[in-house]
Amino acid sequence: MLHSMLLLAVLLLGFQPMLSTPVISETDNEQSSRSCFPALDFRKPLFLPNDNSHWWCDPSTEYAFVGFSYEVTACQTREQLHKEFYDIRHHFKSRYVRLYGACDREGFYDDIVDAAWANTLGVHALIWFGFNLDDIWIGRRDILLAALHTNPKAKFVTRVLQFGSEPLFDGVLPHDQLAEQVLLAKANLSSLNIPVTVSELAFGYQERGGAQDVLDAIDSINIHMLPFFAQDASTADQAWPLVQRDLQWFIDHGNGKKMYFDENGWPSVTSPSVQPNSPLAVADIPNEHEYYILLDQHCEDLKSVVGGGVGWFAHIYSDSMEPGYGIYNISGDMKFPFEPRTHC
Ligand SMILES: *[C@@H]1O[C@H](CO)[C@@H](O)[C@H](O)[C@H]1NC(C)=O
Ligand SMILES: *[C@@H]1O[C@H](CO)[C@@H](O)[C@H](O)[C@H]1NC(C)=O
Repeated sequence: MLHSMLLLAVLLLGFQPMLSTPVISETDNEQSSRSCFPALDFRKPLFLPNDNSHWWCDPSTEYAFVGFSYEVTACQTREQLHKEFYDIRHHFKSRYVRLYGACDREGFYDDIVDAAWANTLGVHALIWFGFNLDDIWIGRRDILLAALHTNPKAKFVTRVLQFGSEPLFDGVLPHDQLAEQVLLAKANLSSLNIPVTVSELAFGYQERGGAQDVLDAIDSINIHMLPFFAQDASTADQAWPLVQRDLQWFIDHGNGKKMYFDENGWPSVTSPSVQPNSPLAVADIPNEHEYYILLDQHCEDLKSVVGGGVGWFAHIYSDSMEPGYGIYNISGDMKFPFEPRTHC
């Protein structure tokens, strides 16, 4: 029985079985106990552990730049996911991808898991509501929950399951029903030890009376930090007080939970869906760049925030995913140098 479980683990990990060698040497054991997923120095163990309880890095190490938002509405092929996740990990030193949008192709989340595992990336998975205020998210929820249970590697790459994007701001569900959905998903995933959150703006909570029931239900706080839309926005280099204002609201109401800026950036152009609320807000490539410089300059400030510091994602990997927010433009060229700090 044990032997067949080991063999199964070997097959799952994609290693050739090495039947005549010891399972794990003392040195490997020490190494793997020091290494945590998805740290930049993570070394893949020979065998997956039985569960993920000692698998993830301590949240207090997950501050500064952690990775990219990555829109999947294009239903990328497995090959493209592998190629771009390789770039995300090895070119930019990312630890995570945060999914955005939805692909309803059968088995798509298995492709995500495969590409993430191959490239040592954790995933902030997403139940996508879309913008039509319909019930399509219910089927997506069930498919994703089932995939998390069925794919044996899913619990080793899925750091958190998000409901999003901005269900409170968009008014998809009353906040008490959203909180109930979070609790149901947590119960569904408890045997897998996968936490659940909501991907949302401070304003989304604030305009629903604070939605404390949602804040209490979620395991981590996945914040949309989009200061370009503030009524007092100007240039990105002046945005720190705007960031602090929203962050402080979550510090005041979030009960010390781990926080991420998971949808976080500044656009290089405006578009019909990206319009400022301040006449002084500037959208151009230097300001998109400047916003990330600002976050780098405040690395120590973000590190010291309650809950183990704020980890931030760059929204978004490519302009082909969301116009103006990409690190890459639609020709596939980088719009500015991007080497954010991963620690400080
Ligand atoms: C979780 O939800 C999925 C989708 O509805 C379902 O297939 C699965 O049986 C549920 N598992 C548990 C443990 O509740
Ligand atoms: C993408 O960036 C490259 C390099 O800066 C530039 O030459 C090209 O014109 C850009 N493409 C678009 C569509 O803006």
